[in-house]
Amino acid sequence: MVFHVYEDAKSACEAGAVLMAAEILKRDDCVLGLATGSTPIPTYEKLVSMYQAGILDFSNVRSFNLDEYVGIDYANPVSYHAFMNENLFSKVNMKQENIHLPDGCTDEDGARYDKAIREAGGVDIQLLGIGRNGHIGFNEPCDCFPIGTHVVTLTESTIQANARFFSSADEVPRKAISMGIGNIMSARAVLLIATGADKADAVYRTICGPVTPQVPASVLQLHPCCTILLDKAAASKLG
Ligand code: F6R
Repeated sequence: MVFHVYEDAKSACEAGAVLMAAEILKRDDCVLGLATGSTPIPTYEKLVSMYQAGILDFSNVRSFNLDEYVGIDYANPVSYHAFMNENLFSKVNMKQENIHLPDGCTDEDGARYDKAIREAGGVDIQLLGIGRNGHIGFNEPCDCFPIGTHVVTLTESTIQANARFFSSADEVPRKAISMGIGNIMSARAVLLIATGADKADAVYRTICGPVTPQVPASVLQLHPCCTILLDKAAASKLG
């Protein structure tokens, strides 16, 4: 695990875009694992600008997103389908058939998603944000590390954190379908970006704490190729 600390969030996120761009340049049909949330927005902006400048071509790039709410209308702007469309897919030349997000509401739907990832040859680089409780994807603190894509019940802390995207916390779906820790650990490279003081504790526990499913991101200590990009605020507890 290596980590880099940047002066501000924009630089950390743009460094993330550089790592993802390198993957696309190495293999034009590479498989990107993608995340939603506020953190990676500048990363997507940078990737879009590199596409617009003619530096990157997404025509053969394939992608698998980490997660999606269960039961949400994908046309709803707060769905992860709509988020990805708005921030990346509609702005680069990716082919619709190369874009994948988890879909459905059962663990069988999750198993189908895992099969599609395997058939694509696995994820080359998995982009991650992190929750204040150390969650990655929708893998919330629990007693074990979930392996494959599965249906999860959101914790109260995640519902409250995500309420900012909805008109009220009551509207946040209570369930999601998410890649498991096994999926994330199977990616050939993992790139976690954390920005802002509210992530400092989760970042500290991820990098310096014991590996425990109570801090799901701590498992990344065991990944052979994990890069963590931080701004100063998120790194403030690292000493
Ligand atoms: C998003 C995801 C989540 C977020 C995390 C941080 O696909 O899987 O784990 O990465 O909740 O969200 P932000 O970036 O909004 O703080």
